[in-house]
Amino acid sequence: MQIASIKTPRDRQEALGQFLTARPIADFMASMFGPLPGTVRLLDAGAGAGSLTAAFVSRCIEKHDDVSAIEATLYELDGEILDALTATMHECERRCAAAGIRITFTLHSADFIEDISASLAGDLFGRPPPTFDAAIANPPYRKISTNSAERRALRSVGVETSNLYTGFIALIQRLLVPGGQLVAITPRSFCNGPYFRPFREDFLSDLELRRIHVFESRQAAFRDDSVLQENIIFHAVKGRNQPGELTISSSRGEHRDEITESAFPFSEIVHPNDPEKFIHIPSETSHTEAKETLNGLNTSLAALGVTVSTGRVVDFRLKDALRKEPERGAVPLLYPCHFNGGTVHWPKLEARKPNAILDNDETRPWLVPSGVYLLTKRFTSKEERRRLVACLFDPDLVKAERVGFENHLNYFHASGHGLERTLAVGLYAFLNSTVVDQYFRRFSGHTQVNATDLRTLAYPKRDTLEAMGREIKTLDLSQGEIDQLVAKHLHARR
Ligand SMILES: C[S@@+](CC[C@H](N)C(=O)[O-])C[C@H]1O[C@@H](n2cnc3c(N)ncnc32)[C@H](O)[C@@H]1O
Repeated sequence: MQIASIKTPRDRQEALGQFLTARPIADFMASMFGPLPGTVRLLDAGAGAGSLTAAFVSRCIEKHDDVSAIEATLYELDGEILDALTATMHECERRCAAAGIRITFTLHSADFIEDISASLAGDLFGRPPPTFDAAIANPPYRKISTNSAERRALRSVGVETSNLYTGFIALIQRLLVPGGQLVAITPRSFCNGPYFRPFREDFLSDLELRRIHVFESRQAAFRDDSVLQENIIFHAVKGRNQPGELTISSSRGEHRDEITESAFPFSEIVHPNDPEKFIHIPSETSHTEAKETLNGLNTSLAALGVTVSTGRVVDFRLKDALRKEPERGAVPLLYPCHFNGGTVHWPKLEARKPNAILDNDETRPWLVPSGVYLLTKRFTSKEERRRLVACLFDPDLVKAERVGFENHLNYFHASGHGLERTLAVGLYAFLNSTVVDQYFRRFSGHTQVNATDLRTLAYPKRDTLEAMGREIKTLDLSQGEIDQLVAKHLHARR
């Protein structure tokens, strides 16, 4: 769709916060929406020449999902851009008609902040605020001083914020129906600026953050306007519960750039007890470094003489053999709940899971001879900081002839037997390191860690792992200590 090109003198452009979204970015933003209702009430606040609504319309036409009608509401303060906006909307009408989608639009040549604050505050003689299923926005950004008309209008509806863009977002979120979606491109400053704390609190209590996209190049999104702002795009859904996980994606910001994405526990992005509610966006650089470090490794697990398997005890198939407490004739049965820092804490009588399994003809095929094994969780909870969590089964601490590993664990072994201790401890450090975790998140978008994923990972050479293992005297190490040790040995062997 052609969007008329507009030339605004620089000072007007800055006063209006007018930086238009390039077509590929607008299309990319529109692609972020999840499923939409049959009739979508769409809001485009600060519409400019309409590129975002046009991209949204294209998405609905191309996606062939349930959208059969679009009711668009557009706000634009700049009278000089209205002709271009109207032309874009007529083009949208034409394209929708050809695609069998009904479209209507209402264009408000008005101040969005003033208008919406007044209707939210109930000042407009009973006219209720409009409601929307979807909003797409590239709001204007400009500082707004304490006594400005905008600040006063926002304050009247309980919004205290010092920039126009956060004022726009705060109002937009109030107009969304539950489940309504917002995709916006904004400066990144609201994520950790101290002045944005009240905004963050308001935003995170009303919207579920589903995805954040970062541009690695500061200039990327608005190249033509040479705006040196770090921009992000986010997709959020009106609701009160933050998701367990959210997607962080990134691209350099150029057209057709590769987009990489990873899933992160929400608790890692906004720390649960952080009064500042900072939104931590994992840095691309650390991911790239992780990738480079891991790409430098080329030893396979098989070459180390090590195998990784999924725990063989499927508890519901062996119900009669399970025991809550250890007893004569039973051997330890280990679940993820027995992980305790670097080692296993067994038995754990207060846990709901059984602690033992009878050792008899029926169960023996599912048990392994005691030895040093490295265990990893197949599923991590959202509170866990790392996706990969490894712990050592030490036969000196849990005495038994045989042991059962339950199906929610993966275990590293040497042809069904225990591993050499120094190798196992080296593997322990490697798998618990931040570089491996970051690399892992990158290639595996989900929270599950399958044995296949661990099998296909590249490992350091055996002597490097053993050197790491020899250096570790206690498994009670901090993340920083593990990372330092792993970095030292990996760089030494390059
Ligand atoms: C960053 S531009 C984005 C334009 C368009 N949405 C796009 O993505 O290309 C923000 C737009 O908001 C308009 N604007 C600024 N203040 C406004 C206000 N108070 N009410 C409505 N529109 C406003 C500007 O004129 C400008 O066109």
